[in-house]
Amino acid sequence: MNEVYKAKINEHYGKVSILDSILEKLKINKIDPDNLTRKDLETFEDFHIGGKLATHHLAEFANFPKGAKVLDIGCGIGGPARTLAEDYGCKVVGVDLTEAYVHAATQLTSMLRMEDKVSFSQGDATGTLPFESKEFDYVWLQHVTMNIEDKKNLFKEVHRLLKDDGKLVFYEIIKGNDQPIAYPVFWSPTDELSFLVNKNSYKSALEDAGLVEQVWEDKSQFASDWFQKMLDNMKASGPPKLGLKVIIADDVPIKAKNILDGINEGKLQVVRAIYTVK
Ligand SMILES: C[S@@+](CC[C@H](N)C(=O)[O-])C[C@H]1O[C@@H](n2cnc3c(N)ncnc32)[C@H](O)[C@@H]1O
Repeated sequence: MNEVYKAKINEHYGKVSILDSILEKLKINKIDPDNLTRKDLETFEDFHIGGKLATHHLAEFANFPKGAKVLDIGCGIGGPARTLAEDYGCKVVGVDLTEAYVHAATQLTSMLRMEDKVSFSQGDATGTLPFESKEFDYVWLQHVTMNIEDKKNLFKEVHRLLKDDGKLVFYEIIKGNDQPIAYPVFWSPTDELSFLVNKNSYKSALEDAGLVEQVWEDKSQFASDWFQKMLDNMKASGPPKLGLKVIIADDVPIKAKNILDGINEGKLQVVRAIYTVK
């Protein structure tokens, strides 16, 4: 991945000091950082459609055995990783390209005294990540691949990192039809950081990397209903005290509406799947 692109992803997701901004907003809401709980973060620490609910849905779908070692690629500020560790007994490593997110993920995890169960590092998942081959029982991806042009290399790296009986579990956004979507969206201000492909191209990239489809499900209706509810609630009672605006600098309602319209018009599809190693 080229350096200009890496810098742009870092600027897009990490343009404010995300940890400072989170701590400031918690303070405004009278939440004491010295006594932080997981509940204090639950409305904004999962940066994907469906929030914490979708993380639980995907974890149930994955059906982790106790103690499974999971790599969360594109882990953001670590909400899903902490959920898998605490609620599903997994040993989780998160990796993300955006330095500010890795910093926030690490600090929040330490404030919650969960460092023994979850750790984070910075890295580009289309390159070689700093882990041994066949190190993980599961690789987990939620709303990351929209930003990744080189899906073939990403999935090759996933294949390298999974044990022979390991599984890739994902909840991702793909192209529904060939009509262009409106920008900005949460993953890109314009089309420059957006690399959506249709179902056939997506499946080809997975198969070319040696991954084998076990289950593929369309979750677009769930995604549309969740977004509609979020926008209706915002209209009725104003923005929530915390919520996604804690980690997104601006334009939350416009970005949400552009994605919702994209799903409802068939331009975007939200899918989840399980793949195994060939
Ligand atoms: C929409 S956020 C999702 C965060 C997290 N998965 C979650 O659901 O809360 C997308 C994340 O993908 C990360 N990302 C984008 N390209 C990446 C790459 N090549 N390698 C690792 N992470 C990447 C971004 O930095 C960002 O944190």
